Amino acid sequence: MPIIAPSLLAADFSNLRHEMSTVADAPWLHLDVMDGHFVPNISFGMPVIKALRPHSQAKFDAHLMIEPVDPFLEAMAQAGVDHITVHVEGNPHLHRTLQTIHALGCKAGVAICPATPPEALSEVMDMVDIILVMSVNPGFGGQKFLHSQVAKIRTLAGMIRQTGREIVLAVDGGIDIHTAPLVTEAGATMLVAGSSIFGQEDRKGAIAALQAASRPVRG
Ligand code: DX5
Ligand code: ZN
Repeated sequence: MPIIAPSLLAADFSNLRHEMSTVADAPWLHLDVMDGHFVPNISFGMPVIKALRPHSQAKFDAHLMIEPVDPFLEAMAQAGVDHITVHVEGNPHLHRTLQTIHALGCKAGVAICPATPPEALSEVMDMVDIILVMSVNPGFGGQKFLHSQVAKIRTLAGMIRQTGREIVLAVDGGIDIHTAPLVTEAGATMLVAGSSIFGQEDRKGAIAALQAASRPVRG
């Protein structure tokens, strides 16, 4: 089964601790950090993540949509995140950034926007732990899934197989029970979902429904 990572961006921000407890079934919690510069929106940052950390057992999966990103890596690790995903776009020293994330004791992820070709990741395949394919343009929850990204997921799944390494292939944006089968069939092993989980009263049921709709993950 794919890993399901609820995205807190779609939660009720006036009640985050409680909202987080409603998705305790999921092993990862996706945290979208936005700066109003790399993306045209601002969300939350280290102080909020640090405050939430003691109240969850989940792996904290930070998706940094900020530029520059390097000056904030250490503070992000100190806030208690387990995974730090940075964008391939607008990051001229991606190799060094990934080294820094590992040195901080975190898993290192790279996110790729819809307009960027999969080959942009070819030189970091030996050091990346998570690849996050954006199936919407980053910045907002609740957007429509871009079907054009399914081919990229397939290509990246092939590139991952060639490395022989265990790299999580994640998809973020517009994931629901209709798109989950498409992306898992193409090779996704992790699904980020905001609206399709937090938009439901029954979060446990929403997580289970996403898993039930997914194709089994290939070993
Ligand atoms: C968008 C974020 C996503 C967002 C997904 O920039 O990276 O994680 O929360 O939201 P949904 O699942 O509603 O498309
Ligand atoms: Zn995200």
